[in-house]
Amino acid sequence: IKKIGILTSGGDSPGMNAAIKAVVQAALKKNINVIGICNGYTGVIQKKFKLLNDNKVKNIMNYGGTILGSSRFPEFKQKNIQKQAIKNLHQKNINALIVIGGNGSYKGAQYLTEMGFPCVGIPGTIDNDVLGTEYTIGFQTALNTVVKSIDKLKDTSLSHQRIIIIEIMGRYCGDLALSAFFACNCDFVILPTVLFKKKILVQEILKNLKKGQKNFIILMTEHIYDIHTLSNYIQKKTNKETRAIILGHVQRGGSPVTYDRILATRMGYYSINILLKGISGVCIGIKNNYIVHQKIKNLSIHKKMSFIQKWSLKSKNLYHYTYF
Ligand code: F6P
Repeated sequence: IKKIGILTSGGDSPGMNAAIKAVVQAALKKNINVIGICNGYTGVIQKKFKLLNDNKVKNIMNYGGTILGSSRFPEFKQKNIQKQAIKNLHQKNINALIVIGGNGSYKGAQYLTEMGFPCVGIPGTIDNDVLGTEYTIGFQTALNTVVKSIDKLKDTSLSHQRIIIIEIMGRYCGDLALSAFFACNCDFVILPTVLFKKKILVQEILKNLKKGQKNFIILMTEHIYDIHTLSNYIQKKTNKETRAIILGHVQRGGSPVTYDRILATRMGYYSINILLKGISGVCIGIKNNYIVHQKIKNLSIHKKMSFIQKWSLKSKNLYHYTYF
């Protein structure tokens, strides 16, 4: 392998730049040139290529977002687009592709692999919903942002004796919400993996109001229930002022925390090492603190329940008092 391409795709995540840096530095050490592809798979089709060298990546470790840009490109499902992508990569003499992203991005890498083009996936998403890894790059940073935001919302919820319900990203994976729930000692968490009944939630709130509780923090993973409808319902049934907060894209930004920088660095170096061993069609993960790889084709589905949730569901007390 003389020249590889690298792209970031799907929702950006803090630490993607650290991964780009690691890939470029590891590749250059082995005399492999790295071509950065702008804006994900769109850039492959539009031939948005740029040579990456040490100077271009040396100082990007602490930047949020991705210097390569990202996009969602559902058209990549089409065979003719995939063929065009491979043609453009060959034209540029690119022998292999490193894809940093989540499930959708892995799907793209899987298509190319099946058509004979070597790809390696690195998991970059705040959702932590990728199979084959315990952590994705960006999850810890996003969690930190969520925790800091909840701490602030707790202050005002206490001052005004209000119920605050907070919608948290994660797509269909509750890892961000559940981890933040533990870290902030919230009152309730609504997860995609546990059937939600709004009547039971209200019963629990009323029970605790009777015991003298003054304020409540409820976390909810996105896509489960309309947060404003739920907030109005709770206010009506409990007669307690309720506010709905959607944390939104703030969760995707910011400088990566140390954990994500190191994870990205380890995964970036590992991806070059396995490519040099002739291994491709795989994606990288971390398991029991070891960096590992698995076949991409087994992984391109969304993970809904991670080890974090499996562990917490084992605890009956927590289950009864806090989940719906
Ligand atoms: O996959 C990351 C993520 O932030 C999800 O948590 C969220 O559902 C989605 O992307 C939002 O996508 P977009 O930025 O395209 O609105």
